[in-house]
Amino acid sequence: MNRLRLVGPQEQGSEEQAFQGSLRPSFLKEYIGQKTVVENLSIALEAALHRGEPMDHVLLYGPPGLGKTTLAHIIAQEMGTRIVSTSGPAIERTGDLMGVLTNLNTGDVLFIDEIHRLSRVVEEFIYPAMEDFQVDFIVDKGAFAKTIKVPLKKFTLVGATTRAGALSAPLRERFGLFYHLDFYQVEELVTILRRSAAILKVDLEEGAAQETARRSRGTPRIANRLLKRIRDYALVRGDGRANLPAAQEALAREGIDELGLDRQDRLYLRTMIEVYKGGPVGIEAMAATLNEEVDTLVDMVEPFLLKTGFVIRTPSGRRVTEKGYRHLALLPPDGSSQLRLF
Ligand code: ADE
Repeated sequence: MNRLRLVGPQEQGSEEQAFQGSLRPSFLKEYIGQKTVVENLSIALEAALHRGEPMDHVLLYGPPGLGKTTLAHIIAQEMGTRIVSTSGPAIERTGDLMGVLTNLNTGDVLFIDEIHRLSRVVEEFIYPAMEDFQVDFIVDKGAFAKTIKVPLKKFTLVGATTRAGALSAPLRERFGLFYHLDFYQVEELVTILRRSAAILKVDLEEGAAQETARRSRGTPRIANRLLKRIRDYALVRGDGRANLPAAQEALAREGIDELGLDRQDRLYLRTMIEVYKGGPVGIEAMAATLNEEVDTLVDMVEPFLLKTGFVIRTPSGRRVTEKGYRHLALLPPDGSSQLRLF
């Protein structure tokens, strides 16, 4: 499977990171969508600033591409502090974290992406850092081993995870604030696209903005990426304006359909239908048939298919819904009873 999906929710390399970074809002007032999260976060920020104290530790959870990293940067920006970013898989040993933690100043944000992927040892090392702002550092080995308590400045840990359920309970309980990010509405994505187009100096027409938003899977990161493709297509094959025909043509070329599904999504649905009679089927079996990691399917493919209602999760496994069959222009099994004819 192609790792670099145009509609893949993950950031794809340093070039894309710079591109998406240039479109990222720096302050809460510029942030579009996630109204409840933004409101609650702004109360927490204002209260912390008022008291002159660092913010409580924050856990952000939800599918990739919805703004967890952006919000972590905004928290630091609004608090007037620095942010240090890392990720669960990048911290292999407690020693990796020691230097980072001891270099943090009061109020600094330590952002740990994919925090559910921290090793148990590292996770346990973090508990006293979060709770008492100190770490137990072990020096020497064997009989000479001793623990020294190293004091830390009062920092704010911002953790991001795609699956709150994958986080161990003791870690989850150490966060004071939890915010769930959900997929964006089309109108919110249109507003984000207009903002991005203005920054990129792209002449984005209304029809194209609507069309792009509809195909962006509720995800700003994808919307911005599609905008870039449409801009390039309009420049090379069109008249430079990002209008509806340019948007439709550019996206069709990439295999992205009217609802934003790409070839990988359709392959998932088709496999479930053709190999497993539409389910129910376990995720391990699907992963094996698609030659894919379970985590990739769970984190990258399924969230949007579940959101669109093309797939459901039942106690006995995943199933394609009638809506899913219809999207591929296929008849559901016992179609005569399920498919109403008007
Ligand atoms: N760019 C990406 N996500 C955004 C958001 N939520 N608001 C404004 N601009 C964005």
